[in-house]
Amino acid sequence: MAQTMDGHTVQSDGKWALGSKEDKRRMDRLRLWADCIIASRKSIENDNPNLFARSKPNAKQPVPVVILKDLKRQISSSSRIFSAPHPAGEFWIFGLNAPQIDQLVDTGTLDKNQKQQTDRIQKWKIYHYNNVKDIYDALVEKGYRKILLEGGPTLNGLFLQYDLIDEIFFTMEPYLWAGEKTDRIITTPETLPLKKFRLLTVERRKDEVFFRYKKIK
Ligand SMILES: NC(=O)c1ccc[n+]([C@@H]2O[C@H](COP(=O)([O-])OP(=O)(O)OC[C@H]3O[C@@H](n4cnc5c(N)ncnc54)[C@H](OP(=O)(O)O)[C@@H]3O)[C@@H](O)[C@H]2O)c1
Repeated sequence: MAQTMDGHTVQSDGKWALGSKEDKRRMDRLRLWADCIIASRKSIENDNPNLFARSKPNAKQPVPVVILKDLKRQISSSSRIFSAPHPAGEFWIFGLNAPQIDQLVDTGTLDKNQKQQTDRIQKWKIYHYNNVKDIYDALVEKGYRKILLEGGPTLNGLFLQYDLIDEIFFTMEPYLWAGEKTDRIITTPETLPLKKFRLLTVERRKDEVFFRYKKIK
Protein backbone atom coordinates (compact mmCIF):
# COMPACT_ATOMS: atom_id res chain seq x y z
CA MET A 1 0.00 0.00 0.00
CA ALA A 2 1.13 3.51 -0.80
CA GLN A 3 0.21 6.61 1.15
CA THR A 4 0.83 10.34 0.84
CA MET A 5 2.74 12.05 3.67
CA ASP A 6 -0.59 13.26 5.08
CA GLY A 7 -2.22 9.85 5.11
CA HIS A 8 -4.17 9.64 1.85
CA THR A 9 -4.44 6.34 0.01
CA VAL A 10 -7.33 7.26 -2.27
CA GLN A 11 -7.46 10.35 -4.49
CA SER A 12 -10.44 12.70 -4.25
CA ASP A 13 -11.77 11.19 -7.51
CA GLY A 14 -11.82 7.76 -5.80
CA LYS A 15 -8.88 6.41 -7.82
CA TRP A 16 -5.24 5.81 -7.00
CA ALA A 17 -2.59 6.53 -9.61
CA LEU A 18 0.37 7.77 -7.54
CA GLY A 19 3.57 5.76 -7.40
CA SER A 20 6.76 5.86 -9.43
CA LYS A 21 8.27 3.24 -11.74
CA GLU A 22 10.33 2.12 -8.74
CA ASP A 23 7.16 1.58 -6.70
CA LYS A 24 5.67 -0.47 -9.54
CA ARG A 25 8.90 -2.46 -9.88
CA ARG A 26 8.67 -3.36 -6.19
CA MET A 27 5.00 -4.30 -6.56
CA ASP A 28 5.97 -6.55 -9.44
CA ARG A 29 8.58 -8.24 -7.28
CA LEU A 30 5.90 -9.02 -4.69
CA ARG A 31 3.53 -10.25 -7.38
CA LEU A 32 6.19 -12.63 -8.70
CA TRP A 33 6.60 -13.96 -5.16
CA ALA A 34 2.86 -14.40 -4.56
CA ASP A 35 0.71 -17.46 -5.28
CA CYS A 36 -2.40 -15.30 -5.40
CA ILE A 37 -3.28 -11.63 -5.20
CA ILE A 38 -6.35 -10.27 -3.43
CA ALA A 39 -8.06 -7.05 -4.54
CA SER A 40 -11.46 -5.48 -3.98
CA ARG A 41 -14.19 -5.11 -6.58
CA LYS A 42 -14.04 -1.39 -5.83
CA SER A 43 -10.35 -1.17 -6.84
CA ILE A 44 -11.12 -3.13 -10.01
CA GLU A 45 -13.92 -0.68 -10.85
CA ASN A 46 -12.08 2.51 -9.91
CA ASP A 47 -8.55 1.78 -11.12
CA ASN A 48 -8.99 -1.07 -13.63
CA PRO A 49 -5.56 -2.38 -12.60
CA ASN A 50 -3.44 -5.12 -14.10
CA LEU A 51 -2.87 -7.67 -11.34
CA PHE A 52 0.13 -9.45 -12.86
CA ALA A 53 3.87 -8.73 -12.75
CA ARG A 54 3.96 -6.17 -15.56
CA SER A 55 7.73 -6.31 -16.03
CA LYS A 56 7.68 -10.11 -16.51
CA PRO A 57 4.53 -10.98 -18.44
CA ASN A 58 5.89 -14.42 -19.35
CA ALA A 59 6.53 -15.46 -15.74
CA LYS A 60 4.06 -17.53 -13.69
CA GLN A 61 1.50 -15.01 -12.51
CA PRO A 62 -0.46 -14.95 -9.22
CA VAL A 63 -4.11 -16.03 -9.32
CA PRO A 64 -6.36 -12.94 -9.01
CA VAL A 65 -8.85 -13.14 -6.12
CA VAL A 66 -11.51 -10.42 -6.20
CA ILE A 67 -13.71 -9.79 -3.16
CA LEU A 68 -17.11 -8.14 -3.18
CA LYS A 69 -20.08 -7.72 -0.89
CA ASP A 70 -23.10 -8.04 -3.15
CA LEU A 71 -24.49 -8.06 -6.67
CA LYS A 72 -25.48 -4.40 -6.74
CA ARG A 73 -23.29 -3.73 -9.79
CA GLN A 74 -21.91 -5.97 -12.52
CA ILE A 75 -18.19 -6.08 -13.17
CA SER A 76 -17.21 -4.90 -16.63
CA SER A 77 -16.18 -7.70 -18.99
CA SER A 78 -13.56 -5.32 -20.39
CA SER A 79 -11.74 -5.16 -17.02
CA ARG A 80 -8.04 -5.83 -17.43
CA ILE A 81 -8.14 -8.71 -14.93
CA PHE A 82 -9.87 -10.83 -17.62
CA SER A 83 -7.08 -10.49 -20.15
CA ALA A 84 -3.82 -12.44 -20.58
CA PRO A 85 -1.46 -13.07 -18.91
CA HIS A 86 -3.76 -13.10 -15.87
CA PRO A 87 -4.66 -16.67 -15.00
CA ALA A 88 -8.38 -17.36 -14.47
CA GLY A 89 -9.20 -16.09 -11.00
CA GLU A 90 -11.74 -16.32 -8.23
CA PHE A 91 -14.59 -14.08 -7.12
CA TRP A 92 -15.64 -14.20 -3.50
CA ILE A 93 -19.04 -12.77 -2.69
CA PHE A 94 -20.51 -12.22 0.76
CA GLY A 95 -23.61 -14.24 1.72
CA LEU A 96 -25.16 -17.60 1.29
CA ASN A 97 -25.27 -18.40 -2.40
CA ALA A 98 -22.66 -17.82 -5.05
CA PRO A 99 -24.23 -16.46 -8.27
CA GLN A 100 -23.50 -17.51 -11.86
CA ILE A 101 -20.69 -15.71 -13.64
CA ASP A 102 -23.14 -14.00 -16.03
CA GLN A 103 -24.89 -12.37 -13.08
CA LEU A 104 -21.61 -11.04 -11.79
CA VAL A 105 -19.90 -9.93 -15.01
CA ASP A 106 -21.65 -8.13 -17.89
CA THR A 107 -20.78 -10.85 -20.41
CA GLY A 108 -23.93 -9.95 -22.34
CA THR A 109 -22.15 -6.93 -23.79
CA LEU A 110 -19.52 -9.13 -25.49
CA ASP A 111 -20.26 -9.98 -29.11
CA LYS A 112 -19.44 -13.30 -30.74
CA ASN A 113 -16.12 -11.95 -32.09
CA GLN A 114 -14.98 -11.75 -28.50
CA LYS A 115 -15.35 -15.48 -27.88
CA GLN A 116 -11.85 -15.78 -26.45
CA GLN A 117 -12.66 -13.13 -23.83
CA THR A 118 -15.97 -14.86 -23.01
CA ASP A 119 -14.16 -18.19 -22.58
CA ARG A 120 -11.59 -16.63 -20.28
CA ILE A 121 -14.28 -15.07 -18.08
CA GLN A 122 -16.24 -18.35 -17.89
CA LYS A 123 -13.15 -20.01 -16.37
CA TRP A 124 -13.35 -17.77 -13.28
CA LYS A 125 -14.69 -19.50 -10.16
CA ILE A 126 -17.22 -17.97 -7.78
CA TYR A 127 -17.42 -18.74 -4.07
CA HIS A 128 -19.27 -17.22 -1.16
CA TYR A 129 -17.94 -16.28 2.25
CA ASN A 130 -19.28 -15.18 5.61
CA ASN A 131 -16.09 -13.52 6.75
CA VAL A 132 -12.69 -13.08 5.15
CA LYS A 133 -11.21 -15.86 7.30
CA ASP A 134 -13.25 -18.27 5.11
CA ILE A 135 -11.43 -16.91 2.06
CA TYR A 136 -8.02 -17.18 3.70
CA ASP A 137 -8.70 -20.77 4.89
CA ALA A 138 -9.85 -21.84 1.41
CA LEU A 139 -6.79 -20.31 -0.25
CA VAL A 140 -4.48 -22.09 2.21
CA GLU A 141 -6.35 -25.36 1.64
CA LYS A 142 -5.65 -24.99 -2.10
CA GLY A 143 -1.95 -24.81 -1.29
CA TYR A 144 -1.51 -21.05 -1.62
CA ARG A 145 1.04 -20.03 1.02
CA LYS A 146 2.08 -16.63 -0.26
CA ILE A 147 -1.00 -14.44 -0.26
CA LEU A 148 -0.66 -10.82 -1.34
CA LEU A 149 -3.40 -8.41 -0.25
CA GLU A 150 -3.45 -5.25 -2.38
CA GLY A 151 -6.29 -3.35 -0.71
CA GLY A 152 -8.00 -0.91 -0.67
CA PRO A 153 -8.09 0.21 2.94
CA THR A 154 -11.53 -1.20 3.85
CA LEU A 155 -10.66 -4.65 2.55
CA ASN A 156 -7.32 -4.50 4.37
CA GLY A 157 -9.29 -3.64 7.53
CA LEU A 158 -11.45 -6.76 7.17
CA PHE A 159 -8.30 -8.91 7.04
CA LEU A 160 -6.72 -7.06 9.98
CA GLN A 161 -9.85 -7.71 12.08
CA TYR A 162 -9.18 -11.43 11.70
CA ASP A 163 -5.47 -10.99 12.39
CA LEU A 164 -4.60 -12.11 8.85
CA ILE A 165 -1.87 -9.58 8.12
CA ASP A 166 1.70 -10.74 8.83
CA GLU A 167 3.71 -8.17 6.94
CA ILE A 168 3.12 -4.74 5.46
CA PHE A 169 4.92 -3.22 2.49
CA PHE A 170 4.27 0.46 2.75
CA THR A 171 5.37 3.23 0.39
CA MET A 172 5.47 6.84 1.54
CA GLU A 173 4.63 9.05 -1.43
CA PRO A 174 6.07 12.60 -1.48
CA TYR A 175 2.75 14.42 -1.75
CA LEU A 176 0.38 16.37 0.47
CA TRP A 177 -3.34 16.60 -0.13
CA ALA A 178 -4.67 17.80 3.21
CA GLY A 179 -8.45 18.02 3.67
CA GLU A 180 -10.16 17.03 6.92
CA LYS A 181 -10.44 13.29 6.37
CA THR A 182 -7.75 10.80 5.46
CA ASP A 183 -8.27 7.20 4.38
CA ARG A 184 -4.97 5.55 5.48
CA ILE A 185 -3.68 2.14 4.42
CA ILE A 186 -6.07 0.26 6.71
CA THR A 187 -9.47 1.38 7.96
CA THR A 188 -12.08 -0.30 10.18
CA PRO A 189 -15.34 1.11 11.59
CA GLU A 190 -13.94 0.96 15.15
CA THR A 191 -10.36 1.00 16.39
CA LEU A 192 -8.86 -2.43 17.13
CA PRO A 193 -6.56 -3.58 19.92
CA LEU A 194 -3.11 -2.15 19.34
CA LYS A 195 -0.79 -4.34 17.24
CA LYS A 196 2.92 -3.76 17.16
CA PHE A 197 5.07 -4.22 14.07
CA ARG A 198 8.84 -4.51 13.65
CA LEU A 199 10.54 -2.48 10.95
CA LEU A 200 12.46 -5.01 8.83
CA THR A 201 13.75 -2.70 6.10
CA VAL A 202 13.52 0.92 5.07
CA GLU A 203 14.89 2.15 1.75
CA ARG A 204 14.84 5.52 0.08
CA ARG A 205 14.76 5.93 -3.71
CA LYS A 206 14.63 9.56 -4.83
CA ASP A 207 11.63 11.06 -3.01
CA GLU A 208 9.89 7.83 -2.04
CA VAL A 209 10.51 5.73 1.05
CA PHE A 210 9.76 2.00 1.14
CA PHE A 211 9.05 0.34 4.47
CA ARG A 212 8.65 -3.34 5.25
CA TYR A 213 7.09 -4.18 8.61
CA LYS A 214 6.47 -7.56 10.24
CA LYS A 215 3.90 -8.20 12.93
CA ILE A 216 5.36 -9.04 16.33
CA LYS A 217 3.67 -12.25 17.47
N1 LIG B 1 -2.94 3.64 -2.08
C1 LIG B 1 -2.91 2.39 -2.43
O1 LIG B 1 -1.86 1.73 -2.41
C2 LIG B 1 -4.19 1.72 -2.87
C3 LIG B 1 -4.21 0.34 -3.07
C4 LIG B 1 -5.41 -0.25 -3.46
C5 LIG B 1 -6.54 0.53 -3.63
N2 LIG B 1 -6.46 1.86 -3.42
C6 LIG B 1 -7.66 2.71 -3.58
O2 LIG B 1 -8.62 2.33 -2.59
C7 LIG B 1 -9.90 2.65 -3.10
C8 LIG B 1 -10.99 1.92 -2.43
O3 LIG B 1 -10.79 1.90 -1.02
P1 LIG B 1 -12.02 1.66 -0.02
O4 LIG B 1 -11.47 1.59 1.35
O5 LIG B 1 -13.05 2.67 -0.33
O6 LIG B 1 -12.59 0.30 -0.47
P2 LIG B 1 -11.88 -1.11 -0.68
O7 LIG B 1 -11.13 -1.52 0.51
O8 LIG B 1 -11.19 -1.18 -1.97
O9 LIG B 1 -13.22 -1.87 -0.93
C9 LIG B 1 -14.04 -2.45 -0.09
C10 LIG B 1 -14.42 -3.62 -0.92
O10 LIG B 1 -14.57 -4.72 -0.11
C11 LIG B 1 -15.82 -5.32 -0.42
N3 LIG B 1 -16.36 -5.87 0.78
C12 LIG B 1 -16.58 -7.15 0.98
N4 LIG B 1 -17.08 -7.37 2.19
C13 LIG B 1 -17.19 -6.18 2.78
C14 LIG B 1 -17.65 -5.75 4.05
N5 LIG B 1 -18.09 -6.61 4.97
N6 LIG B 1 -17.60 -4.43 4.33
C15 LIG B 1 -17.13 -3.55 3.41
N7 LIG B 1 -16.69 -3.92 2.18
C16 LIG B 1 -16.72 -5.22 1.88
C17 LIG B 1 -16.69 -4.25 -1.05
O11 LIG B 1 -17.56 -4.89 -1.93
P3 LIG B 1 -18.69 -4.13 -2.79
O12 LIG B 1 -17.98 -3.56 -3.96
O13 LIG B 1 -19.64 -5.20 -3.16
O14 LIG B 1 -19.28 -3.07 -1.87
C18 LIG B 1 -15.67 -3.39 -1.76
O15 LIG B 1 -15.41 -3.81 -3.07
C19 LIG B 1 -9.79 2.28 -4.57
O16 LIG B 1 -10.64 3.07 -5.32
C20 LIG B 1 -8.33 2.48 -4.92
O17 LIG B 1 -8.15 3.60 -5.74
C21 LIG B 1 -5.32 2.47 -3.04
